[in-house]
Amino acid sequence: MSSVRKILVTSALPYANAPLHLGHILEYTQTDIWTRFQKIRGNDCYYVCADDAHGTAIMLTADEQQISPEEHIKKMQASHEADFSDFLIDVDHFHSTHSDENKILVELIYKRLVDRGFIVQKAIVQSYDSKKEIFLADRYIKGQCPKCKAFDQYGDNCEICGATYQATELINPISVLSGTTPVTKESIHYFFKLSEFTDYLKSWTSGKHLQPEVSNKLREWLNDGLKDWDISRDAPYFGFKIPGTSKKYFYVWLDAPIGYMASFKALCKKNDINFDTFWSSDSKAELYHFIGKDIVNFHALFWPAILESTGFRTPTEIAVHGFVTINGLKMSKSRGTFINARDYLEHLDPEYLRYYYASKLSRSIDDVDLNFDDFVQKVNSDLVGKVVNIASRCAKFVTHGNAGVLSKTIHNSELLGKVSGISVTIARLYEKRDFSGVVRLIMAEADSINEYITASEPWKLNKDEEKKQEVQDICSLGINLFRILMIYLKPILPKTAKASEVFLNDELNWSGITRPLTDHQIETFSPMIKRIDKNSIESMLSGNKAYSNEKVTAKIKADVNLNAVEEVEIEEFQKIDLRIAKIIKAETVQGADKLVKLTLDIGTETRQVLSGIKSAYLPEQLEGRLTLMIANIAPREMRFGTSHGMVLAASSKNGVYLLEPDIGAAPGQRVT
Ligand code: 2FM
Ligand code: ZN
Repeated sequence: MSSVRKILVTSALPYANAPLHLGHILEYTQTDIWTRFQKIRGNDCYYVCADDAHGTAIMLTADEQQISPEEHIKKMQASHEADFSDFLIDVDHFHSTHSDENKILVELIYKRLVDRGFIVQKAIVQSYDSKKEIFLADRYIKGQCPKCKAFDQYGDNCEICGATYQATELINPISVLSGTTPVTKESIHYFFKLSEFTDYLKSWTSGKHLQPEVSNKLREWLNDGLKDWDISRDAPYFGFKIPGTSKKYFYVWLDAPIGYMASFKALCKKNDINFDTFWSSDSKAELYHFIGKDIVNFHALFWPAILESTGFRTPTEIAVHGFVTINGLKMSKSRGTFINARDYLEHLDPEYLRYYYASKLSRSIDDVDLNFDDFVQKVNSDLVGKVVNIASRCAKFVTHGNAGVLSKTIHNSELLGKVSGISVTIARLYEKRDFSGVVRLIMAEADSINEYITASEPWKLNKDEEKKQEVQDICSLGINLFRILMIYLKPILPKTAKASEVFLNDELNWSGITRPLTDHQIETFSPMIKRIDKNSIESMLSGNKAYSNEKVTAKIKADVNLNAVEEVEIEEFQKIDLRIAKIIKAETVQGADKLVKLTLDIGTETRQVLSGIKSAYLPEQLEGRLTLMIANIAPREMRFGTSHGMVLAASSKNGVYLLEPDIGAAPGQRVT
């Protein structure tokens, strides 16, 4: 006898700074499907989330809008909650980290840390904007990369050459906030003695709490040794003040995960649940945090150490997923290549994306590509063409031939047994978060059911008076099989499942899998889900500046077409005049959303080349750089002018990368 499990599930708390995008929706869909599965299985499962409301960014955005941070986060929370609801993310409670519950818990945890000797004060030196009177995090400082000299790089790493460095190493640094040169200033900070937890974390991260790829990554970090963690920030800051100080605040990443507890605390109050059952150090309940791979260190190092050191239970599992790419390209705010959740919802049904994401999600932390051609194909062929098609093919015979009443017996119990028999495997795959496995299995069954209907030819039998009962039996079985598939799909497609419940006149429960509907009245069929109209995708994307960039890169990839390589003779290759070129000038091309106009010094002359690399570089990032070009391509007349030659760039799903020679190369040199 399996007993009811107590399970608490969370998704990473979205920053209350910007609307949600389709990357967020991947995680919430993954969490929601898993939670709905646990609930349909009868477990005592709760899903909580909240807005991550603190930090400098939120304070500055509110400042810009000339509203208080409180007003700003309230607006953002309303927008996030609307997106959750419209994507059918059935969160039991959505809270805010800027709440009384969180403040009380943060202060309790901090007090325990202090009392147990895990907090230490250290003086640190940071960049400071004297005009704005604020310490500057790395992302608020820009300057020239100390390695490749690229302009306009952030204070911690160079987007062009990938170098990492200290903000103080930037050439000509400026504060993004005031445009002035930062000075350095000392301040006392509060550190959590994370280094004392190295052995504990080595053991915690090597076990069953993490996927193997995540454990391996963490092992590398742990072997390098852990540093104490700075949990404080200086005023001005939007957050909770550290008790006993006047100008120190808790760092947003300290109070954010505590927000999981705070949100649950609020739910406990609302639904009369015992908080300690889920959070005490000896809790038998299970705790799952769903997160993206970029925030693993916070959840699998800092968070378990904080919980362990303050007498709370640690997570059962941290469920990590990869990033979303769009048509093979990285979603990136700085490049403007992301699709807002709301833009999607204005054009497309949320269940299309839920299904598509489910079909791609597994335990892997690989990125999940949202390829729109594949998306249309998969949704239309699987959901409309396979699953709903079963009901559509069978319902009319039952409605017209037997007043909508299903047969009293099951016609082919072997087929029914086969489809219901996979329930154990489906449940195991759901439990393991292998939703792509779930979808594959369901679609294989949908195929066999459709084959069965096709082979049985009820439309032919129905012409024969003596075969009418057989038609009813075949179609009643078809409807029952559709019902089982919809029970399996219910966590993924809650809206279609609901419409199916109306049609079937029956609530879809896991226990119903082995109890077919016989002598049962159904309702008239009407399609539960419509085909995707490709135009809806076009209209969603055409309103999105970001997508035009993606199309550019896709085009560049097609142009370069690295995969279609034919062998050539060396003599043929030698016909190419491959040279080092210096980009003297880079300009945007009026009206062209893909091209940059480059003026190149190629040793013997200057050339103008129109290059489709605008999606990856700002013109000012290109000037002064050396690259490789094919100089003897005949001049081409393009809509925006003549282009004479081609500069070389590599492309991957992450973007386009201009090729650069090693130090010492000079304009005009031949590449041999
Ligand atoms: O990375 C982020 O978007 C964070 N706001 C996630 C916080 S998760 C948790 F720790 F609160
Ligand atoms: Zn650089």
